[in-house]
Amino acid sequence: MRAVVTGGAGFLGSHLCERLIARGDEVLALDNLSTGSVDNLAHLIGHDRFRFVRVDVTDYVHVVGDVDLVLHFASPASPIDYLALPIQTLKVGSIGTFHALGLAKEKKARFLLASTSEVYGDPEVHPQPESYWGHVNPVGPRGVYDEAKRFAEAATLAYRQTHGVDTGIVRIFNTFGPRMRPNDGRAIPNFIRQALAGEPVTVAGDGTQTRSICYVDDLVTGILALADSEHAGPVNVGNPHEISMDALARWIIELTGSSSRVEYIARPVDDPTVRQPDTTLARELLGWSPQVEIEDALRRTIAWFREQRDARFDAPPLSPDATAHILAGS
Ligand SMILES: NC(=O)c1ccc[n+]([C@@H]2O[C@H](COP(=O)([O-])OP(=O)(O)OC[C@H]3O[C@@H](n4cnc5c(N)ncnc54)[C@H](O)[C@@H]3O)[C@@H](O)[C@H]2O)c1
Repeated sequence: MRAVVTGGAGFLGSHLCERLIARGDEVLALDNLSTGSVDNLAHLIGHDRFRFVRVDVTDYVHVVGDVDLVLHFASPASPIDYLALPIQTLKVGSIGTFHALGLAKEKKARFLLASTSEVYGDPEVHPQPESYWGHVNPVGPRGVYDEAKRFAEAATLAYRQTHGVDTGIVRIFNTFGPRMRPNDGRAIPNFIRQALAGEPVTVAGDGTQTRSICYVDDLVTGILALADSEHAGPVNVGNPHEISMDALARWIIELTGSSSRVEYIARPVDDPTVRQPDTTLARELLGWSPQVEIEDALRRTIAWFREQRDARFDAPPLSPDATAHILAGS
């Protein structure tokens, strides 16, 4: 099977590429490297079933040869990123999604959209089932991301109904693990980075707001289960393990053995108060449920961040030869 992964150099995209290669598929990763990095793919470069091409999917998506699966994951995803790139976020969710859908239509491939729990906004229903329409402020700062994803869902359905494309929509809830950028502003990498540096761990508001956090390995298994099925979705994929931000910060301080203290800072506008997936559909349709204990997942992630502090973030960039090889997609 040949898969195209847009956003393949990102956190989730790189894990997807890795898992697809491991199971024997051929993979073409497309990414403009706006929030991702070739470092995330360094271990796959040179593999004979893997290719990377640097391209902005809002410009065009063109692929030679057969394609069986299109996984559309290109989009800034952390609030810091999409607030810095608001128009790019809207464009990749709209024009980029049309281009990725066009590829699936042309190649008669299955298409899977990476949507998000953010389509539920600041939810008035808890936990959130797929049938809930959400509570989103289109003109708030998060609107660029939330509405781009809501638009992308509508575009995906339109291609299914109008052009008969075999589409699926996964609504991803907060996921963490190795390869998150330590400074991407999302709570877990932020807390880990601060705790490892012995800095104050900054919690927004009074920290009573909750998130439900999923380890990346579990998420990838759920995504591929949906990709391999014929279900249209949307299907929630996430771990219902719900925790307050205050408790999460304190847990990370404990697991890192840090002497950091918690510091409370202003809460971002429209920050959701609660967030928990109803995963009944994923269980019933896909037989999927998360397997990795959160403490174990946090320990693995902390271990990776520790290694990076010692190695990657201080390491020189890829050699010019390796970079040329990657950018040529060879
Ligand atoms: N990580 C999560 O918890 C989470 C939750 C919900 C949804 N998602 C979705 O999953 C996808 C991946 O998120 P992530 O956490 O890996 O973020 P990420 O920022 O690490 O990855 C996104 C990738 O898309 C690339 N990209 C952005 N715009 C592009 C464009 N126009 N053309 C080509 N490439 C482009 C970036 O360079 C990056 O490599 C996103 O669509 C995001 O909305 C993630």
